[in-house]
Amino acid sequence: MLKEYVSKTSKSKALYERAKKVLPSGVSYGIRYFEPYPFYTAKAKGSKLYDVDGNEYIDFWLGHTALILGHSPPAVVDAVKRQLENGTHYGTSHELEIELAEQVVKMVSGAEMVRFTNSGTEANMYATRLARACTGRSKIAKFEGGWHGGYDALHIGVHYPFNIPESAGLTVGTLQDTILLPFNDFEGVKKRLKNEELATIVIEPVLGAGGGIPAEKEFLKGLREFCDEKGILLIFDEVITGFRLAPGGAQEYYGVTPDITVFGKVLGGGFPIGAFCGRREIMERLDTRVYERPHYSFHGGTFAANPVTMTAGLATLKILEDGELINKLNRVGDRIREQLREIFEACGVDVQVTGASSLFNTHFTREEVKDANAAFKADRKKLIDYHLRLIANGVFFLPTHTGALSTAHSEADMEKMLSETEGYAKHHGKLF
Ligand SMILES: Cc1ncc(COP(=O)(O)O)c(C=O)c1O
Repeated sequence: MLKEYVSKTSKSKALYERAKKVLPSGVSYGIRYFEPYPFYTAKAKGSKLYDVDGNEYIDFWLGHTALILGHSPPAVVDAVKRQLENGTHYGTSHELEIELAEQVVKMVSGAEMVRFTNSGTEANMYATRLARACTGRSKIAKFEGGWHGGYDALHIGVHYPFNIPESAGLTVGTLQDTILLPFNDFEGVKKRLKNEELATIVIEPVLGAGGGIPAEKEFLKGLREFCDEKGILLIFDEVITGFRLAPGGAQEYYGVTPDITVFGKVLGGGFPIGAFCGRREIMERLDTRVYERPHYSFHGGTFAANPVTMTAGLATLKILEDGELINKLNRVGDRIREQLREIFEACGVDVQVTGASSLFNTHFTREEVKDANAAFKADRKKLIDYHLRLIANGVFFLPTHTGALSTAHSEADMEKMLSETEGYAKHHGKLF
């Protein structure tokens, strides 16, 4: 399969050789590298990516799951084109940021006030600081396999084995201030936090990078009650689930409202974004008119609430607001997960297909996958083989990563993904 990929991607190979000289590992984000080298994209439209060699890929990676309407949806592109004529970046206050904030408040139950950032990482960083400011406590907790971006305090316990630092350069103090919790195991959480005073517990309602694993509803409810009891602020990192699981995100889908919510991806309509929001009394900590140093919590940034991003986000949320497209995608998601299970089962391959709503992933294991531990213990080499076979045949998943559906995917796109999966399952990876 590698041979087939290599024979079709000579221009990408040449670009990779060039890129390696100026970009570490030839990419701008480590996870975008895969063996033997990534293809380099020339353009994208709808459900498809086109590489520099002219190969076409049905895209289930969707810009890190951001593109729920597919690549360059006309309504977003038209709105952005109009905005470009009126300025690309103001660095002053403007009405579009108010409009998008109002739209978020309208759609999301846990949001009374909003602040925008340029990435999910940044939004999690400021949300964590805000929780510390509000509670006066230093320690925080996150879950094994949870990915919240590269911010030091949350860049812990993402990959198995969870006790090895994720990166060089993290200070001992940072490592000590973050407690790692078992996902979907409420008793385990209570045990680990028995003698701890926390500012916040940060959770992805569906583990994204950790394997596309949904939290159980009772687990989230338990966390909510636990946080209320202990005066801990509960942060939902909805960078993936926001405006995807439901118009109001995972908090609507699960019926559990966090204190602070973090958004990114879908909210930007294809442009860089992050946001954090919450109840008024929490968000007012960011207001220098209400809190003076050292009691106020800082947030800011040159490109915060960039007008082009605000425009794209607003056009996207308007399309998603009534829930019709999201509900349809969720039904397709249920069907795809079921069909993938059936295909592998019919071929005698042990897999667990995880996911929720329009997110899905495959784990080559017999064991039930309810946390990232189980996902990492599955046969990842097989998952890479499976995804590489799909890539070589024009279906793109970033190897091992959770796939996503968009409103731009056609029935034919799904059929192709399923038939290529069947091709892989029938040979159970033995062709490689
Ligand atoms: C759940 C979650 N939180 C935070 C982030 C970080 O967002 P960004 O890559 O925009 O910094 C990601 C990115 O993949 C994510 O999946």
